[in-house]
Formats: sequence, C-alpha cells, structure tokens
Amino acid sequence: NEIYLQGYQGATPLLSTDPTKLEEAARELLEPGPFWYAAGAAGTGATARANREAFDRWRIVPRMLTDATERDLSTTVLGTEMPAPLLLAPVGVQSIMHPEAERATARAAAGLGLPMVLSTASSSTIEEVATASGDGPRWFQLYWPHDPDVCASILGRAKQAGYTTLVVTLDTWTLAWRPCDLDRAYLPFLRGEGVAVPFSDPAFRALLDKSPEEDPPAAILRWISLVTGADRSWNALPFLREHWDGPIVLKGIQHVDDARRAADAGMDGIVVSNHGGRQVDGAIAALDALPEIAGAVGDRIEVLFDSGVRSGADLLKALALGARAVLLGRPYVYGLALGGEDGVRHVLRSVLADLDLTMGLSGNRTPADLGADSLRRS
Ligand code: FNR
Repeated sequence: NEIYLQGYQGATPLLSTDPTKLEEAARELLEPGPFWYAAGAAGTGATARANREAFDRWRIVPRMLTDATERDLSTTVLGTEMPAPLLLAPVGVQSIMHPEAERATARAAAGLGLPMVLSTASSSTIEEVATASGDGPRWFQLYWPHDPDVCASILGRAKQAGYTTLVVTLDTWTLAWRPCDLDRAYLPFLRGEGVAVPFSDPAFRALLDKSPEEDPPAAILRWISLVTGADRSWNALPFLREHWDGPIVLKGIQHVDDARRAADAGMDGIVVSNHGGRQVDGAIAALDALPEIAGAVGDRIEVLFDSGVRSGADLLKALALGARAVLLGRPYVYGLALGGEDGVRHVLRSVLADLDLTMGLSGNRTPADLGADSLRRS
C-alpha cells in the first residue's frame, strides 16, 4: 500500500525498485572507475552473463488455494536468526562507492535484522562496523593471510567484536584478469581509507617498514602479497578451527567433490558461488552447480548461494534448488552508491518485498515449502 499510495522511490528519486534501472542510475552517477569496479567481471563477462541466463532457464510453477496469505520467511542459519533467508555478500572497499562505506551498509542491514558479511578488504575497520551494526547479526569474511600472526590477529579482533560466523573465500587467491579494472585502476577512488582491516591491525603493521599512513601504496602491495598465492591445501583448514570457535563457511565452491571435501573436513557450511563471475571467465553458472551440490551435502552442512541474484523470483529459485539462504552482491552496492544507508535499505526492502509477494502468489508460505517441485526447467 505504501508503494502504490506514495510511489516507492526510497530516499531519493534516483532509486528505482527495478534492479536494472538501479544499475543504470549508478552508472550515471559514478565515475567509470568506481562503477566498473562494481559492475565489472572477469574476462569477457561470459560467467557473469551465464549467472543470469541460468536463472532464466528455471520457471516457477505457482500453486493455488494453498493459504499463503500470511508468509513467514524467517529462518536460522548456523545459529543466526534472520527475518528472511537473505544476507549481504562481502564486498570490499566500499568507500569507493560512498564515504560512509561499510558503516552505512551495516546500519541498513542491522535495521532489517539481516546479517552483513564484512569483507577483510573493507574500508571500515572490524570494530567500526561492529558498532554500526548495533544489535544486528555479524558475519566476517576472511581473505586468508599467509602470515599466521596476521591471520590470528584479524580473527581474534572479529571474535572480540562479536562476529559469530566466519566465511572463508577460496576462489580469490589471486585476482582474475578483469579488463574493467585493468583499464581504469580504481585505487585512487579509495578516499584515503585504504583497506582498513589490515591497515588497522597491529600484527600487519609490525610487518611494514613504513606505516600505511606514511606509505599507503606500499602497505596495499604488502597486503596483496600476504593474501595471494595458492600454496595451501585442504590440510590447512585446521588452522582456522584453532583460531575460530564459531561456525566456518567456505565460499566459492562450484564442484560437488569440493563440497564433499568441505563437509568431510568438518566445515559447517559452503557458499556455492563464482564470485559474481569476477574470477574464472567461462566458469559454469553458480546456479547450475547448486542442485547437485545441495543434493550431495545439504543434509550434512548448510549450503548457501550467491552470484546473479537480482529479484525475489531469483531468490525463490535458489531456495527451491537447495540453498538455505542467499547472499546478495551488486544490487546493494548500487544502492550504497546512490543513497548511502537509505539506498542500501531501499534495495534490501525491495528484494524482501518482492520475495514475500512472489512466495505468496506462487502458493508458498515458508521457505520450507519450496523444493524441486516448485520449479520447471524451461
Ligand atoms: C565482491 N565479492 C567479494 N567476495 C568476497 O568474498 N570478498 C570481497 O571482498 C568481495 N568483494 C567484492 C566487491 C565487489 C564490488 C563485488 C561486486 C563482489 C563477491 C561477492 O561476495 C559475491 O560473491 C558476488 O557479488 C555475488 O554476485 P552478485 O550478487 O554480485 O551477482
């Protein structure tokens, strides 16, 4: 009713409820460097496109007279209660998008009770984002530093600051060939905040000849050298267990055997994801990997999903194909660019409302009502 009576334009008239228009508005507002940092993908963009095409191949089969007039979308994932199976995907260096950066995103997420997954590459510190989150749920994403002291220090700070679940991103042990970034260099847009999680970390600072304030480029390069390189195997996971006593989720899983290995290694969950098509150009659509993986390990660990979700219908499809919850990436980043905290809130509320209506109109009262039977492949 609010929407039809007042016109749902969020905080500023720039904000559309249509995800494609949001992207267009962000493109108009932002300089090319920041816009393409968010919108860009690896290589030719084939995997980013495949993510969207995969959603189009599945169609919802609505059911009638099921009494879905009142929906309950709430769920609990790894001990975190949420009003709907939706989390904010970890997105680094948000100061490129808005001066309030991750603090604005955290306030919007917390206001709706949705968990935000804070990136290790964030431009606000772990502690600042914890404060901005108030009572809201907090998860932390790790880009895994090779230096064990730096890794332990960052994990210790996250625990201390009340983050409950650790998401370890495996698919970005080096950055992919990303023409959009290579052609435009976005680091000048960092607004001087750099990558605040390592820059503020005493164990990381101890490794530097000059402080990040004195020599930001050197500190960034040192940080990149710490989190890149693939000299790691499944045998390294116990280190994380030793330093994190909450649930651990591996992000970037695309092969069913890797999902099994994660479960065998005692992990608590995985995110089936191809990083929004930003890593392996030509990789399969994340949605195409989901049903097999959920079927293989869904009864042992929590299977989460991201890459390509833009609407309530997309969310419903991912849940029906076996995801327990879904992470949203670029759309909220555009919201942040366009309207800061209000912009993020607008995008999240739009997706939640769309999901709620699509669930009801297709005859589903709760996420548990969804299954293979809810969809047809077209
Ligand atoms: C990301 N992603 C990401 N993932 C991660 O684990 N740590 C990070 O710091 C980042 N940073 C990041 C920046 C930007 C601008 C984007 C768009 C994405 C990947 C992110 O968590 C998620 O996997 C994808 O964004 C999901 O795809 P969609 O929803 O953007 O299509």
